[in-house]
Amino acid sequence: MVDFRQVNYSRTTLTELMVPAYANFGGKIHGGILLSLMDKVAYACASKHAGNYCVTVAVENVDFLQPVEVGEMVSMYASVNYVGTSSMVIGIKVIAENFKVGTVKHTNTSYFTMVAKENGVPTKVPGLILETKEDIKRFLEAIKRKELKSSYKSELQKARIALLVDSENTLLKNERCRIELS
Ligand SMILES: CC(C)(COP(=O)(O)OP(=O)(O)OC[C@H]1O[C@@H](n2cnc3c(N)ncnc32)[C@H](O)[C@@H]1OP(=O)(O)O)[C@@H](O)C(=O)NCCC(=O)NCCS
Repeated sequence: MVDFRQVNYSRTTLTELMVPAYANFGGKIHGGILLSLMDKVAYACASKHAGNYCVTVAVENVDFLQPVEVGEMVSMYASVNYVGTSSMVIGIKVIAENFKVGTVKHTNTSYFTMVAKENGVPTKVPGLILETKEDIKRFLEAIKRKELKSSYKSELQKARIALLVDSENTLLKNERCRIELS
């Protein structure tokens, strides 16, 4: 295995035409279709960097900002933003192009954590050579997101414990629900 690889080595683009079979009942493209394509491009990018089989472990920041229409050409731009020991964070920018009206929409940027495996267990991946300021920024942002995720998890755990002892009547006072315990 090589010790380090450049970001450019595994940079991957996946482009696909949005056909009618991908549409939901409202005529827009199913979010699940886009997620599946994102998973594919994340896999291709991660496995190229790792030189190994990879699995998807976590998906962050999936907010579809604008709908994608049938007939649009969707491109997913993926690159390795961060590497740990066996894990990699793949940043994916999704763009939808409408050739008829000449628009280009940025629908979302999401982050897939992938882990390289060999014989069913996590295996070390090459380090990342950061060649531009953008590479460095993305690597640092991934570290920050990791820290925030970890503190979010522990805060949520504390909140769960607090919810058990709090009175549901005060917490749910302004919510659109009604308690009907049987
Ligand atoms: C995720 C998985 C590989 C962890 O395996 P494990 O034996 O517990 O190994 P570790 O705890 O050493 O974790 C391996 C790496 O995954 C990372 N990881 C584990 N859970 C994670 C999570 N929820 N979010 C982000 N990273 C995570 C660890 O930080 C570690 O990274 P590092 O090696 O860079 O430090 C294992 O649980 C697995 O295979 N899950 C199923 C994945 C899958 O099938 N995906 C397809 C979806 S159906």
